Amino acid sequence: MNRRRLYFYSRLPFYALRLCRILAFSLGRVRVRSFKQYIGKNCRIEAERGWIQLDRRCTLADRVSLIAFGKGVITLGAEIFINESSRIVAMERIDVGDNCLIGDSVSIYDHDHAHADPHRLIRKQGYVATPVRIGRNVWICSHVVVCKGVSIGDNSVIGAGSVVTHSIPADVVAVGAPARVVKRRY
Ligand SMILES: CC(C)(COP(=O)(O)OP(=O)(O)OC[C@H]1O[C@@H](n2cnc3c(N)ncnc32)[C@H](O)[C@@H]1OP(=O)(O)O)[C@@H](O)C(=O)NCCC(=O)NCCS
Repeated sequence: MNRRRLYFYSRLPFYALRLCRILAFSLGRVRVRSFKQYIGKNCRIEAERGWIQLDRRCTLADRVSLIAFGKGVITLGAEIFINESSRIVAMERIDVGDNCLIGDSVSIYDHDHAHADPHRLIRKQGYVATPVRIGRNVWICSHVVVCKGVSIGDNSVIGAGSVVTHSIPADVVAVGAPARVVKRRY
Protein backbone atom coordinates (compact mmCIF):
# COMPACT_ATOMS: atom_id res chain seq x y z
CA MET A 1 0.00 0.00 0.00
CA ASN A 2 1.52 3.33 -0.96
CA ARG A 3 1.89 6.20 1.54
CA ARG A 4 -0.91 8.35 0.10
CA ARG A 5 -3.41 5.52 0.41
CA LEU A 6 -2.22 4.72 3.91
CA TYR A 7 -2.67 8.39 4.86
CA PHE A 8 -6.19 8.39 3.35
CA TYR A 9 -7.22 5.24 5.29
CA SER A 10 -5.74 6.54 8.54
CA ARG A 11 -7.87 9.69 8.14
CA LEU A 12 -11.11 7.78 7.40
CA PRO A 13 -12.52 7.94 10.97
CA PHE A 14 -11.88 11.69 10.99
CA TYR A 15 -13.66 12.15 7.61
CA ALA A 16 -16.57 9.98 8.80
CA LEU A 17 -16.95 12.01 12.00
CA ARG A 18 -16.89 15.25 10.03
CA LEU A 19 -19.52 13.99 7.59
CA CYS A 20 -21.71 12.80 10.51
CA ARG A 21 -21.58 16.25 12.11
CA ILE A 22 -22.57 17.95 8.85
CA LEU A 23 -25.33 15.39 8.20
CA ALA A 24 -26.67 15.77 11.74
CA PHE A 25 -26.85 19.52 11.31
CA SER A 26 -28.32 19.33 7.80
CA LEU A 27 -31.30 17.32 9.03
CA GLY A 28 -34.06 19.60 10.20
CA ARG A 29 -33.79 23.34 9.84
CA VAL A 30 -30.16 23.68 8.87
CA ARG A 31 -29.49 23.84 5.14
CA VAL A 32 -26.07 23.25 3.68
CA ARG A 33 -25.49 24.15 0.02
CA SER A 34 -22.55 21.75 -0.16
CA PHE A 35 -21.04 19.10 2.09
CA LYS A 36 -17.65 20.80 1.85
CA GLN A 37 -17.86 22.42 5.28
CA TYR A 38 -15.67 22.13 8.35
CA ILE A 39 -17.54 22.08 11.64
CA GLY A 40 -15.37 21.94 14.77
CA LYS A 41 -16.00 20.33 18.13
CA ASN A 42 -18.86 21.36 20.43
CA CYS A 43 -20.47 23.68 17.88
CA ARG A 44 -24.13 24.48 18.49
CA ILE A 45 -26.27 24.99 15.39
CA GLU A 46 -29.97 25.29 16.22
CA ALA A 47 -33.00 26.81 14.54
CA GLU A 48 -36.51 26.79 16.04
CA ARG A 49 -39.08 27.77 13.39
CA GLY A 50 -36.75 29.69 11.07
CA TRP A 51 -33.65 28.25 9.42
CA ILE A 52 -29.89 28.45 9.14
CA GLN A 53 -28.10 28.22 5.82
CA LEU A 54 -24.43 27.57 5.15
CA ASP A 55 -23.15 28.08 1.63
CA ARG A 56 -20.10 26.11 0.49
CA ARG A 57 -16.77 25.72 2.30
CA CYS A 58 -17.63 27.38 5.59
CA THR A 59 -15.29 26.76 8.51
CA LEU A 60 -16.67 26.87 12.02
CA ALA A 61 -13.93 26.43 14.62
CA ASP A 62 -14.61 24.76 17.98
CA ARG A 63 -17.47 26.00 20.18
CA VAL A 64 -19.08 28.26 17.56
CA SER A 65 -22.83 28.80 18.11
CA LEU A 66 -25.35 29.67 15.41
CA ILE A 67 -28.74 30.02 17.04
CA ALA A 68 -31.97 31.11 15.34
CA PHE A 69 -34.71 31.70 17.91
CA GLY A 70 -38.41 31.79 16.93
CA LYS A 71 -38.65 32.52 13.20
CA GLY A 72 -35.08 33.83 13.10
CA VAL A 73 -32.93 33.19 10.03
CA ILE A 74 -29.13 33.06 9.72
CA THR A 75 -27.43 32.84 6.32
CA LEU A 76 -23.68 32.38 5.91
CA GLY A 77 -22.17 32.95 2.47
CA ALA A 78 -19.43 30.89 0.84
CA GLU A 79 -15.96 30.34 2.33
CA ILE A 80 -16.62 32.04 5.66
CA PHE A 81 -14.30 31.41 8.58
CA ILE A 82 -15.60 31.77 12.13
CA ASN A 83 -13.05 31.37 14.90
CA GLU A 84 -13.50 29.70 18.29
CA SER A 85 -16.30 30.57 20.73
CA SER A 86 -18.04 33.09 18.48
CA ARG A 87 -21.83 33.26 18.44
CA ILE A 88 -24.44 34.49 16.01
CA VAL A 89 -27.92 34.70 17.51
CA ALA A 90 -30.92 35.76 15.39
CA MET A 91 -34.55 36.41 16.26
CA GLU A 92 -35.22 38.02 12.89
CA ARG A 93 -32.39 37.78 10.36
CA ILE A 94 -28.59 37.89 10.19
CA ASP A 95 -26.84 37.63 6.80
CA VAL A 96 -23.07 37.22 6.53
CA GLY A 97 -21.57 37.68 3.04
CA ASP A 98 -19.06 35.52 1.18
CA ASN A 99 -15.44 35.30 2.35
CA CYS A 100 -15.94 36.99 5.72
CA LEU A 101 -13.47 36.32 8.53
CA ILE A 102 -14.89 36.38 12.02
CA GLY A 103 -12.38 36.31 14.89
CA ASP A 104 -12.70 34.43 18.16
CA SER A 105 -15.29 35.35 20.80
CA VAL A 106 -17.26 37.62 18.46
CA SER A 107 -20.98 38.08 19.24
CA ILE A 108 -23.50 39.12 16.60
CA TYR A 109 -27.08 39.75 17.77
CA ASP A 110 -30.07 41.13 15.87
CA HIS A 111 -32.11 41.79 19.03
CA ASP A 112 -32.14 43.52 22.40
CA HIS A 113 -34.25 42.97 25.48
CA ALA A 114 -36.93 45.67 25.35
CA HIS A 115 -36.39 47.93 28.38
CA ALA A 116 -38.52 51.04 27.69
CA ASP A 117 -40.78 50.63 30.75
CA PRO A 118 -38.77 51.32 33.93
CA HIS A 119 -41.60 49.97 36.12
CA ARG A 120 -41.59 46.41 34.74
CA LEU A 121 -39.02 43.68 34.89
CA ILE A 122 -36.82 43.82 31.80
CA ARG A 123 -37.16 40.08 31.34
CA LYS A 124 -40.96 40.49 30.98
CA GLN A 125 -40.76 43.22 28.30
CA GLY A 126 -39.91 40.94 25.39
CA TYR A 127 -37.45 41.72 22.62
CA VAL A 128 -36.83 44.30 19.90
CA ALA A 129 -35.28 42.74 16.79
CA THR A 130 -33.92 44.37 13.60
CA PRO A 131 -31.93 42.49 10.93
CA VAL A 132 -28.13 42.63 10.71
CA ARG A 133 -26.31 42.51 7.38
CA ILE A 134 -22.59 41.90 7.03
CA GLY A 135 -21.21 42.40 3.52
CA ARG A 136 -18.61 40.39 1.62
CA ASN A 137 -14.95 40.09 2.58
CA VAL A 138 -15.46 41.75 5.97
CA TRP A 139 -12.94 41.00 8.75
CA ILE A 140 -14.42 41.20 12.23
CA CYS A 141 -11.53 40.93 14.71
CA SER A 142 -11.61 39.18 18.08
CA HIS A 143 -14.07 40.09 20.84
CA VAL A 144 -16.26 42.38 18.72
CA VAL A 145 -19.97 42.79 19.52
CA VAL A 146 -22.28 43.60 16.60
CA CYS A 147 -25.65 44.99 17.73
CA LYS A 148 -29.10 44.85 16.15
CA GLY A 149 -29.98 46.78 13.00
CA VAL A 150 -26.40 47.26 11.88
CA SER A 151 -24.98 46.76 8.38
CA ILE A 152 -21.29 46.50 7.67
CA GLY A 153 -20.27 47.29 4.09
CA ASP A 154 -18.15 45.04 1.86
CA ASN A 155 -14.38 44.85 2.49
CA SER A 156 -14.45 46.62 5.85
CA VAL A 157 -12.41 45.73 8.97
CA ILE A 158 -13.75 46.05 12.52
CA GLY A 159 -10.93 46.31 15.08
CA ALA A 160 -10.61 44.01 18.08
CA GLY A 161 -12.91 44.69 21.01
CA SER A 162 -15.19 47.07 19.10
CA VAL A 163 -18.91 47.43 19.74
CA VAL A 164 -20.72 48.10 16.47
CA THR A 165 -23.89 50.05 17.28
CA HIS A 166 -24.28 51.98 13.98
CA SER A 167 -23.87 50.90 10.38
CA ILE A 168 -20.34 50.98 8.95
CA PRO A 169 -19.75 51.79 5.25
CA ALA A 170 -17.79 49.66 2.77
CA ASP A 171 -13.97 49.69 2.46
CA VAL A 172 -13.10 51.20 5.85
CA VAL A 173 -11.40 50.32 9.13
CA ALA A 174 -13.64 51.03 12.13
CA VAL A 175 -12.65 50.61 15.78
CA GLY A 176 -13.79 51.35 19.30
CA ALA A 177 -16.92 51.31 21.41
CA PRO A 178 -19.01 52.54 19.71
CA ALA A 179 -17.14 51.64 16.50
CA ARG A 180 -16.15 54.68 14.42
CA VAL A 181 -14.40 54.83 11.06
CA VAL A 182 -10.69 55.61 11.54
CA LYS A 183 -9.56 55.23 7.95
CA ARG A 184 -10.45 54.13 4.44
CA ARG A 185 -8.72 51.01 3.17
CA TYR A 186 -8.01 52.63 -0.23
C1 LIG B 1 -7.94 46.97 13.28
C2 LIG B 1 -6.56 46.36 13.15
C3 LIG B 1 -6.61 45.18 12.20
C4 LIG B 1 -5.55 47.40 12.64
O1 LIG B 1 -5.85 47.82 11.36
P1 LIG B 1 -4.89 48.91 10.66
O2 LIG B 1 -5.49 49.19 9.33
O3 LIG B 1 -3.49 48.44 10.68
O4 LIG B 1 -5.09 50.18 11.60
P2 LIG B 1 -4.01 51.05 12.37
O5 LIG B 1 -3.14 50.15 13.19
O6 LIG B 1 -3.39 51.99 11.40
O7 LIG B 1 -4.93 51.84 13.39
C5 LIG B 1 -5.63 53.01 13.03
C6 LIG B 1 -6.02 53.71 14.33
O8 LIG B 1 -6.97 52.91 15.03
C7 LIG B 1 -6.49 52.55 16.33
N1 LIG B 1 -6.87 51.16 16.57
C8 LIG B 1 -6.51 50.08 15.84
N2 LIG B 1 -7.10 48.98 16.31
C9 LIG B 1 -7.86 49.36 17.35
C10 LIG B 1 -8.72 48.67 18.23
N3 LIG B 1 -8.90 47.36 18.12
N4 LIG B 1 -9.35 49.39 19.18
C11 LIG B 1 -9.18 50.73 19.29
N5 LIG B 1 -8.37 51.43 18.47
C12 LIG B 1 -7.72 50.76 17.53
C13 LIG B 1 -4.98 52.71 16.24
O9 LIG B 1 -4.42 52.97 17.49
C14 LIG B 1 -4.87 53.88 15.30
O10 LIG B 1 -5.14 55.07 16.00
P3 LIG B 1 -4.10 56.32 15.92
O11 LIG B 1 -4.07 56.68 14.46
O12 LIG B 1 -4.74 57.34 16.80
O13 LIG B 1 -2.82 55.78 16.42
C15 LIG B 1 -5.94 45.90 14.47
O14 LIG B 1 -5.68 47.02 15.31
C16 LIG B 1 -6.78 44.92 15.25
O15 LIG B 1 -7.77 45.23 15.88
N6 LIG B 1 -6.28 43.69 15.20
C17 LIG B 1 -6.94 42.59 15.90
C18 LIG B 1 -6.39 41.32 15.39
C19 LIG B 1 -7.28 40.15 15.73
O16 LIG B 1 -8.34 40.24 16.28
N7 LIG B 1 -6.77 39.04 15.36
C20 LIG B 1 -7.50 37.81 15.52
C21 LIG B 1 -7.34 36.99 14.30
S1 LIG B 1 -8.89 36.57 13.59
